[in-house]
Amino acid sequence: MHEREQWKSRTGFILAAAGSAVGLGNVWRFPYLAGEHGGGVFLALYLVFVFTIGISILLAELTIGRAAKRQPAGAFRVLGGGRWHAAGYFGVAAAFFVLSFYSVVGGWTLAYIVKAVSGGLDGATAAGAGQTFTTLIADPLKPLAYHGAFMALTIVVVLRGVASGIEATSKLLMPALFILLLVLVGRAVTLPNAGAGLAFYLQPDFQKVTGATVIAALSQAFFSLSVGLGAMITYGSYLSMRESLPKSAAWIAVIDSGVAFLAGLMIFAAVFAFGLDPAAGPGLTFVTLPTIFGQMPGGPLFAVAFFVLLAVAALTSAVSLLEVAVAYLIDEHGVSRSGAALLLGVIIFILGIPSSLSLGVWRDFTLFGLGVMDFMDGATTKVIMPLGSILLSLFAGWVVYPRLARELMHLRSGERIAIPLRVWGIVCKYLGPLGIVWIMAAGLFF
Ligand code: TRP
Repeated sequence: MHEREQWKSRTGFILAAAGSAVGLGNVWRFPYLAGEHGGGVFLALYLVFVFTIGISILLAELTIGRAAKRQPAGAFRVLGGGRWHAAGYFGVAAAFFVLSFYSVVGGWTLAYIVKAVSGGLDGATAAGAGQTFTTLIADPLKPLAYHGAFMALTIVVVLRGVASGIEATSKLLMPALFILLLVLVGRAVTLPNAGAGLAFYLQPDFQKVTGATVIAALSQAFFSLSVGLGAMITYGSYLSMRESLPKSAAWIAVIDSGVAFLAGLMIFAAVFAFGLDPAAGPGLTFVTLPTIFGQMPGGPLFAVAFFVLLAVAALTSAVSLLEVAVAYLIDEHGVSRSGAALLLGVIIFILGIPSSLSLGVWRDFTLFGLGVMDFMDGATTKVIMPLGSILLSLFAGWVVYPRLARELMHLRSGERIAIPLRVWGIVCKYLGPLGIVWIMAAGLFF
C-alpha cells in the first residue's frame, strides 16, 4: 500500500483546516442569515452553538479521522464495523450536494473579480450595486460559465494533492484575507450612521428568537465549521501523531467564528449607513461590499483584492468538500487521484446547473415550495448535516469512545486535558444528540 499523504506542519494543517472552515459561509452566508434573523440574537446563538456542540463535533471528526486514517465511509467501517458503514456514505453523498450549490456562489465571486478588474464596480451606489447583482444571477449563461470555472479551479487544487495543493494555498492566503477584512471593518464602522448597524448586530433582542432562528443558527454553526459530513474526518486523516487535537479544534473554531464576526461587523455597519435592507437575502454581501468600495479612496483596488481573497477562501472550502468524495474513491476503490477528481468534479458541476438556473430562468420551478438552490441548501444544512452530526456524536460517545480517548491522550500534556476530555465525552454522549434533536424539532414545529 502506498504511504498516506500528510500535512507538512502543524500550522499548515491548522491553516488548511481553517481554510476549509472559513469560506463563503462566513462572508456570504453568515451575514445574510443574521440579517434575516434579527442580527444580534442570531450572532449570539451562532457563537453559543459553535463553542458547545460545534467544537465538540469538530474534535470528534478530527480524532476519528486521525485514528482511522480514512475518509468518512472508511473511518466508520474501520472503527465501528457493521452497520456504521452507512453513516459514512451519508457524509460522502452530502459533500457532493453541498459543493454543487457552493460552487455556484463561488462562481459569483469570480464574476465579481472580473467586474472589479474591468471597472464595472467603480463608484457603485446601493441601487446600482443591487441591479448589477440581480442581472448577474438571473443571466442564463454567465453564472454557469463561472460555476464551471470555479469547479475547474477546485479540481486543479485537489489534483495536486494534500500538502502541495491544499496546504500551500491556505497558508499564503488566509492571513491576507484576515488583514484585508480588518481594513474594511475599519472603513465600514467609521461611515456616518454605522452606529445603527452596530446596535442591530451587537445588541441581541431575545424577544425575536423563534424556532426558525435557532435551527438557522445551529445549521450555520455546522456549515461554518465544516462539520456534519466528514470533511474534517478526511482532513484529520492526514494528521500525524504529534499534534494536539483539542488545541487544533479550538484554533479552528476561534479563527472561523472570528472571521464570521468581522464579516458581520463590516456588512451591518455598511448596510445601515447606506440605508440597505438587512433582510435582503443571499445578495446582501454582493450588494453591500461594492457600495463600500464605491465610497472609499482606492476603492477599485480594494475591490479587486477583496474578491480575489474571497474567491480563494471559497476555493479552499470547496477543495475540502471535493476531497471527501475523492478520498473515498481513492481509499475504497483504488481509483487514481486525478481520475477521481476529474470524474467527480464534472458530475458536481452538472448537479449545480439547476441551482444556478433556479435564480433566473427556472425561477418558477419549486421543490417543496422552495427554489432548487434553496432546497439544496436547506436539505443539506438543516437536515443532512444535523443528522450526520447526531450519528457522529453517538458514534464517538458510545461506540468508539475508549479508542478516541486514547487517541486524544497521545500528548505530552496528557493530564491537562483529562477534564476537558470528560466534558467532551458528555457532550458527545448526551448534550450533542439531544440538543440537536431538540433544536431540529423546534425548527420544524415552532
Ligand atoms: N465551512 C465552509 C464555509 O463556511 C463550507 C464548507 C467546507 C463545508 N467544507 C464543508 C460545509 C463541509 C459543510 C461541510 O464556507
